[in-house]
Amino acid sequence: MDEMIRRLSQEEYVSGEQLAQEMQLSRSAVWKRIEQARENGWEIVSGGKKGYHLETGDRLEPELWVDALTTDQIGRGDILYADTLDSTNVQLKRMALEGSPHGSLALCERQHAGRGRLGRQWVSVKGQGLLQSVLLRPDILPRQVPMVTYVVALSMAEAVKESAGAEVRIKWPNDLVLGDKKICGILNEAGMDMDRVDWIVCGVGLNVFEGAVPEELRHQATSLDAAVVPPRRREIFVSYLRFLEKNMVAFEKKGWSALEKQYRELSCTLGKHVRVVGTEEFEGTAEDMQEDGGLLVRRQDGSLTCVYAGDVSVRGVMGYV
Ligand code: BTN
Repeated sequence: MDEMIRRLSQEEYVSGEQLAQEMQLSRSAVWKRIEQARENGWEIVSGGKKGYHLETGDRLEPELWVDALTTDQIGRGDILYADTLDSTNVQLKRMALEGSPHGSLALCERQHAGRGRLGRQWVSVKGQGLLQSVLLRPDILPRQVPMVTYVVALSMAEAVKESAGAEVRIKWPNDLVLGDKKICGILNEAGMDMDRVDWIVCGVGLNVFEGAVPEELRHQATSLDAAVVPPRRREIFVSYLRFLEKNMVAFEKKGWSALEKQYRELSCTLGKHVRVVGTEEFEGTAEDMQEDGGLLVRRQDGSLTCVYAGDVSVRGVMGYV
């Protein structure tokens, strides 16, 4: 992490003298570091006597948001940030296998091999979305792992509400929707054996600006700027990390019952008439979720069927949502 950039981001202006003193550098060494940072793409304005001012815009570099974190563990491990990555999930899985601790992260501006659910790809355009993955090493049982997707969905929905004031809903199993269109996708991947969870990589792609949504998907996908003027992406991220930590702690201690009420309030599937499309196709009412992540659907003949995310697609009878 570049400590000078971090320091400049903490105040409107920081004088060269202050920087020199705090970083134990000569004034000319500070000047060289400023020039170097400019060459690396940072916009630093010299404000005469006031000192230097850093234009931070909507940038996502960790230097600009680590000081805003209010978490104990999430965001406190290893952090990988890059302009372009193949996939934040792929990189964070590698880091997990190399021993990165609980709470480590990967985020970027653009992925060239972004992964979606069911082997699909997740297309991204530089600077248009919030693409990130968080590594969890939770104290839960392997059978509880599918529920972590719901914890992630709930946390991102709460963060978008808090930071952007937009009301997104959760479409089972793990899409966030704005109105009747998808705004966010979640891909959790896990490493475990029969009785122990080693790691879970929670990958989330949030469409912040319109450019994040490919033309051919605009009939069913949207972005945050369709409803509100989005805050800086790093504000959404910091808020998400706080909700994720709070919700995971509650889930580890008390199980799904700790989060069920909030989830239900934000769900646009539970309580709704749905069409289940899989090996068998039927309609019914989505009544509840099971501890193993299954969705309980009451058929028109009164019987209950539990469906799983990998097997079926659940649609409201009115379309995508
Ligand atoms: C879906 O199919 O809806 C899930 C999409 C998940 C995309 C995110 S973007 C950040 C993270 N890295 C990836 O390669 N995928 C997830």
